[in-house]
Amino acid sequence: MEGQKKHFNVREIREQFPALRRLIYGKNLIYFDNGATSQKPQMVLDAINMYYSKDNANIHRGVHYMSQKATTGFEDARQIIQKYINANKSEEIIFTKGTTDSINLVAFSFGQLLNAGDEVIISAMEHHSNIVPWQMMCERRGCILKIAPINKKGELIMADFEALLNSKTKLVSITHISNTLGTINPIKEITQKAHAVGAKVLIDGAQSIQHMKIDVKDIDCDFFAFSSHKVFGPTGVGVLYGKEAILEKMPPYQGGGDMIAKVTFEKTTYNELPFKFEAGTPHIAGVICLGKAIEFLSQFDIEAVQKHEHDLMEYAQDMLSTFEGVNIIGEAKKKTSVVSFTVDGIHPFDIGTLLDKQGIAVRTGHHCTQPLMDFYKIPGTIRASFAFYNTKEEIDTFIEAVEKSINMLK
Ligand SMILES: Cc1ncc(COP(=O)(O)O)c(C=O)c1O
Repeated sequence: MEGQKKHFNVREIREQFPALRRLIYGKNLIYFDNGATSQKPQMVLDAINMYYSKDNANIHRGVHYMSQKATTGFEDARQIIQKYINANKSEEIIFTKGTTDSINLVAFSFGQLLNAGDEVIISAMEHHSNIVPWQMMCERRGCILKIAPINKKGELIMADFEALLNSKTKLVSITHISNTLGTINPIKEITQKAHAVGAKVLIDGAQSIQHMKIDVKDIDCDFFAFSSHKVFGPTGVGVLYGKEAILEKMPPYQGGGDMIAKVTFEKTTYNELPFKFEAGTPHIAGVICLGKAIEFLSQFDIEAVQKHEHDLMEYAQDMLSTFEGVNIIGEAKKKTSVVSFTVDGIHPFDIGTLLDKQGIAVRTGHHCTQPLMDFYKIPGTIRASFAFYNTKEEIDTFIEAVEKSINMLK
């Protein structure tokens, strides 16, 4: 993974993604729904096939060859991820079902350490999976959920966030990049301020791991959550990074096989990290292939990836802004990879449907951020979200298609 990075060449990258070659209604697919899920490179597809064709076995408990091979592949993936996000130890990498599951794990387990009256802060731009688990936890534990507000551009209002912090704040859980607005939050500064009052910090990295360098030591966050399927890996698997000292204090999330040290009917003792949080047979192929996806991404200079995606976003946004009646939703100074917009008098779903007929996949609706839609007083947006395999030519075609769709629907 270390050492010489491949020169960033979007044509060569595209060749690695078979799904990008397919036709939709006879048109070349333009895939701009990367915020929902990314396409998978050949290397990951081959690894899935290889695992189920040759190496399929359960992990950790078997003495036989295939079980040991699967275990090694699984634990190697843990190390690949540890190095990629610069965690101190592989014990700090817990495999989950995805970002949602990672956040629920913290809400349940860390939540057990909280008392009535303790406070949790989230922001107004969170995905439902970083809202609802905290609402449920606060209801269970008698805690108070506070919402850090944003301005019309879609930026966190730092002064208001700071005003919410106090000695009762026990956790700040915030998205790194908004899936709806593309806003990049100042997570290092947020972490410093939260730590200053003794609060822990969870970063929802669902929309950042695939777009920028993640260094959990540098951020100094206590938890970092992400999903495999948004970073070119399989669905149904994800990661929770947690600082060892905090994970040690947290009780298990679920009970079952693998998470125990000793079980008797009188008393059960729990396994050490990370297994304490990994009850039952995990998504073994998924974890191994997430490792492959991270290896795939690490071949490239992530700063070149980020620049390419930022250029795409600005290009699309600048062109869309010239259309009469088009409103860009989310104009933060620091944003990336996502352009959300509405068109006066036209429902987002209608534009999305017409774009689909032209082979263009975008997402329409509330993007699992209903409170954000309420804030902007809109039913939803049309969202184009880019990955490093997208091109300016695709955006040109998309812009033409948007114009055509608007003219048809007017
Ligand atoms: C910012 C953000 N957080 C959390 C999630 C939930 O991810 P998953 O459904 O993979 O658990 C998403 C998915 O779109 C997201 O964009």
